[in-house]
Amino acid sequence: MRSFSFQLIAPYYDLLARLVFGNTIDKAQKHFFSLIPKGSEVLIIGGGSGRILGDLIKVAQPNKITFLEASSNMLRIAKKKSARILKNNHRNTEMCFIHGTENDLPVYKEYDVLITFFLFDVYPTHEAKKLASKLSEHLKSSGVWLFSDFCLEGQGFSFLWKKVLLVAMYTFFRLVSNLHNQSLPDYQTIFKELHYLPVQQQYFYHNFIISLIYRKLLS
Ligand SMILES: C[S@@+](CC[C@H](N)C(=O)[O-])C[C@H]1O[C@@H](n2cnc3c(N)ncnc32)[C@H](O)[C@@H]1O
Repeated sequence: MRSFSFQLIAPYYDLLARLVFGNTIDKAQKHFFSLIPKGSEVLIIGGGSGRILGDLIKVAQPNKITFLEASSNMLRIAKKKSARILKNNHRNTEMCFIHGTENDLPVYKEYDVLITFFLFDVYPTHEAKKLASKLSEHLKSSGVWLFSDFCLEGQGFSFLWKKVLLVAMYTFFRLVSNLHNQSLPDYQTIFKELHYLPVQQQYFYHNFIISLIYRKLLS
């Protein structure tokens, strides 16, 4: 059961992310957008304030984006942002906003592309596993899954500073969002168990951030 909420932090989330990571988070998120087939139907889960919508619409030119977000404050910001982006870019991408979680997705609906950016890090492994398994039901067998998140790699000092920064971030979000998770879930095993294969991957911020594009292995 989710006990955390990004309601209070919603207006400041992007600013804080930029203060700590500069534009690296944006770079990591848009890294594989050019590999999304044009005209796709995309599902973004936990898209926050919609910071990636501009690049997604411009680069991937999707037909339709479904934006699923648990925080109504985040969703409100994302809605405003998307209206501005579509107007300024003269695009007619259809937008569908859903306030809720994976349990509120239309049953049996499948998408060409799933996007989960910095979503799994808020869950411990057993919950992230359930979330990934549920989301996987909504991806077409020919579809792709774009994933970005923090990762703990390296040894010695290279590991230490990442661990310290991660603990600081989790402590901060515990205070402002009641987030109780304190460590990264085991993404690799989760995707492997669901029979997803990383097609390409790219590290950012001295290997503290990873972006991957996954495809499901056909059985
Ligand atoms: C750490 S923030 C990341 C936001 C955005 N993806 C970004 O990178 O800027 C996680 C977001 O996911 C939302 N969220 C968490 N679990 C969710 C779920 N199961 N379904 C939909 N949204 C969820 C939170 O409300 C929050 O806005």
